[in-house]
Amino acid sequence: MTNNTVYLNGHYLPLSDAKISVMDRGFLFGDGIYEVIPSYFGRFFHFEAHMERLDNSLAAIRLANPNSHKKWLKILSPLLIGTQDQYVYLQITRGTAPKRDHGFPENTVPTVFAMGSPIVPMAERDTGVKVLTMPDSRWKLCNTKAITLLANILHRQEAIDQNCAEALLVKDGYVTEGAASNVFAVIDGVLMTPPKSAEILPGITRDVILDLAREHGIPCKEESFSLTALQTASEIWITSSTREIIPVVECDEQKVGDGKPGPIWHKMNQLFQTYKQSLA
Ligand code: PDD
Repeated sequence: MTNNTVYLNGHYLPLSDAKISVMDRGFLFGDGIYEVIPSYFGRFFHFEAHMERLDNSLAAIRLANPNSHKKWLKILSPLLIGTQDQYVYLQITRGTAPKRDHGFPENTVPTVFAMGSPIVPMAERDTGVKVLTMPDSRWKLCNTKAITLLANILHRQEAIDQNCAEALLVKDGYVTEGAASNVFAVIDGVLMTPPKSAEILPGITRDVILDLAREHGIPCKEESFSLTALQTASEIWITSSTREIIPVVECDEQKVGDGKPGPIWHKMNQLFQTYKQSLA
C-alpha cells in the first residue's frame, strides 16, 4: 500500500487505475451515499458511529449494505498509512445500469470506492475563521449523507467568494448547520446546537462534543436557535471530522464576542484533543 492506493469494488489499486463506467448511477444521478471516517494515531475514531450512520444513509436510499461493520473495518484499515491524522472517504453508489432511467435498475451491483487522505489542520484553527449566513437551499433529506451535494457546494463557494471559510445555513429564520459542518453557538452562557432532524446531518464530531460537554459540566442544550439569537452569541464554532472544532471569529462581517476564539472553545478543544489521545 502506498499513499496512492485506493479501494474499488474489491481491489486495492493505484488511484490512476481506478476507473468506473460513465453509466454509474453515482455519475449520472448522484445516486449514492458516503462516509468520512477520521483516524488518529493509526486508529479509526468512533468507527461504529460512522458505520451506524452509513447503515442509515443506505437504508434511506433503499440500498442493502454490501458488508458487515467488521468487514468494512477489514476493507478500510489498509488505506490508513502510518499514524498521521487522516481520514477515509467511502462512497457507495447504486452501481452501473445498462441505460439511464430514473427508476432503480434490477440486479445492479453497488459501486464501492474508498480512499485515504491526510487531515491537514486548517491554518486558522487556533485563530478562527469568518463565516457568512445564507438561506438554506437544500432538500428535505439532510440527515442522509448523500453524494448529491450540489446545494452544499454552491453554499460553500458563495462563502469562499466572500473570503469566508464556511456558509452557515438558515431555514425559516433558524440556523441549521454549515455547508459541510455542524454549528455550535454559546448563547447566554449555554452551548447550543440544533437538535437532530432531517434538516441537519447528525455529525459524529457533534455527538462527541455534546458528550464531552455533559461529562465536564459545560452547560449545553440541543435546541434550535434563530439567526437573531446567533447574532448575540459570544462564541460560534463549526465542527466536522476533517476540521474538528473551528472557532468562528466573524459572522456576516460582525465580530463574534471579542473577535477571538472564546474560553469555552479553548476548553472544548483541549478536552477533544485529550479525548482523541485517550483512544490511541
Ligand atoms: N462533512 N453537516 C454536513 C452537511 C457535513 O457535510 C458534515 C461533514 C457535517 C459534520 O459531520 P461529521 O462530524 O460526522 O464529520 C455536518 C464531511 C466531512 C464531508 O462532506 O467531507
